[in-house]
Amino acid sequence: MIKLDIGKEEVLQKSIDWWNPGKTRQWQEDGIDFVMGKREGYYIYDMHGKRLMDLHLNGGTFNLGHRNQEVIQALKDAFDEFDIGNHHFPSIGRAKLAEALGRSTPKSVRYTIFGCGGSEAIDAAIKCARYATKRKKVVSIQNGYHGHSGLAVSLGHIRYSGPFLSQGEPGLFKQVPFNDLAAMENALYEEDVACVVIETVPATYGFPLPEEGYLKKVKELCERYGTLYVADEVQTGLMRSGKMWGIEHYGVDPDILVTAKGLSGGIYPITATVVSEHAAGWMNEDGLAHISTFGGAELGCVVGEKVLEICQRPEVVKNVEYVSRYLRTGLERIRQNYSDYFIGIRQLGVIMGLEFREKDDAKDVMRAFYDNGVWAIYSMLDTKVLQFKPGLLLDKTYCDELLERCEKGIKEAARKR
Ligand SMILES: Cc1ncc(COP(=O)(O)O)c(C=O)c1O
Repeated sequence: MIKLDIGKEEVLQKSIDWWNPGKTRQWQEDGIDFVMGKREGYYIYDMHGKRLMDLHLNGGTFNLGHRNQEVIQALKDAFDEFDIGNHHFPSIGRAKLAEALGRSTPKSVRYTIFGCGGSEAIDAAIKCARYATKRKKVVSIQNGYHGHSGLAVSLGHIRYSGPFLSQGEPGLFKQVPFNDLAAMENALYEEDVACVVIETVPATYGFPLPEEGYLKKVKELCERYGTLYVADEVQTGLMRSGKMWGIEHYGVDPDILVTAKGLSGGIYPITATVVSEHAAGWMNEDGLAHISTFGGAELGCVVGEKVLEICQRPEVVKNVEYVSRYLRTGLERIRQNYSDYFIGIRQLGVIMGLEFREKDDAKDVMRAFYDNGVWAIYSMLDTKVLQFKPGLLLDKTYCDELLERCEKGIKEAARKR
C-alpha cells in the first residue's frame, strides 16, 4: 500500500520548489486549485476530496476510464511473465500488438514502430516519410498540435517551438490553414515535401471539423505530388469518433497512422506509428536504424492489446453512439437557453468542442464547470472553445448528472459576462 503521507499544501510547495513553478502557479492563478488524489472510472478527486467528472481525459488517455479494472488485470497478469523486455529482439507482446494494430488500422498501413509518447510517435512518422521520399520538408496545419519532441514541436505553434529555438531551418516546416486546399496545394506542388502531418480533427485548435471532401482532397494532392499523408489519430483514434479511427469517416487511406494516449489505457505508456510498406522501407535496409528502449515495452504491449480489444467490442461501439447522441441532445437544449453565449457544438462521436462567443470565454466556462464539479479544459489555441471529451463507457446516469452540472456552469459563466 502506498503511504500518502504528504498534505496538499506541501505538494504545492514542493511543486513550486522542485517541479515546475510556472505551471503550478498558473493553475492557482486561474482558480484551479487542484492536486490529484483518488481517481476511479470517469471521476478524479482533489487531495482534499473535491470530486470532478473528468471530461478532459488527458486527450483520450482515459478513454476507458481511470484505472480500468480490465486493463489493470491484464497488466497484473503480464507482471507474472514480462518486464520491459529487450527492444532488439522480437517478442510475444510486440508481435501480437503489432498484428492487432495492423489488422485494426486501414489496409494502407501495416508495420508498427512502437514508442512511449505521442510526440515520439510523430517524430518516427516524419523520419519514415523522409527516408521513403528522400525529401526533408514537412507541412502541417496552422494551430495543429503534435507534441513537443524534436521534430513534432517544429510542426506546431510558435508558442511551443519559439522558446526552445525549435522552429527548424527556414522553409523546412511549413504550416497552412486548415480547410484551405489552395494553400495546401501551394505548399506541395514543388514536389519537395516528405509528408503532410494532420490531425483528423485538430484538438488543441478546438476541434474544427474538416469540411466536406477536404481530407480526401489533401490525400489526393499528396499522391499527386509524391508526399506521404500522416494521420495524427492521437486524439481521434480508438473509437472516440464512433469508428476505430477518425480518418475512416473521411475515406482517406493514410500512409502513416499515429496512435498514442488512449492506447496506454492510462496505465502503461505505449504508442504506435503504423506505416505503409513504402514508409517502412528503411526496415528492410537497416531495421536497427530507429531504436527506442522503452518503446514497445512488453508490459505496455499487453495493455495496448487489451485496450484495442475493448474499444472494438460491439457493445462499446453502440455505447459511443448512444453517449454521442444523448449528450448532443442535452447540450443543444442547454445551448438554446444561452444561444447568444454558447454559440456552437463541434462534434464527431465523443470528440466535442463547445464554442462560446468570444476569445477566453472557454476559460470562464472551464472555471465555472470546475466550481460545479466538472473538469473540461479550454482549447489552448482557440480560447473560445472548450474541449469536451466524454469517455467511451459512460452511462445515462453519468450523462444526466453531467448535463445538469454543465447547465449550471454555463448559466454562471454567462451571467458573469
Ligand atoms: C493530436 C496530438 N498529437 C500528438 C500529441 C503528443 O502526445 P504526447 O503528449 O504523448 O507526446 C498530442 C498530445 O496532446 C496530441 O493531442
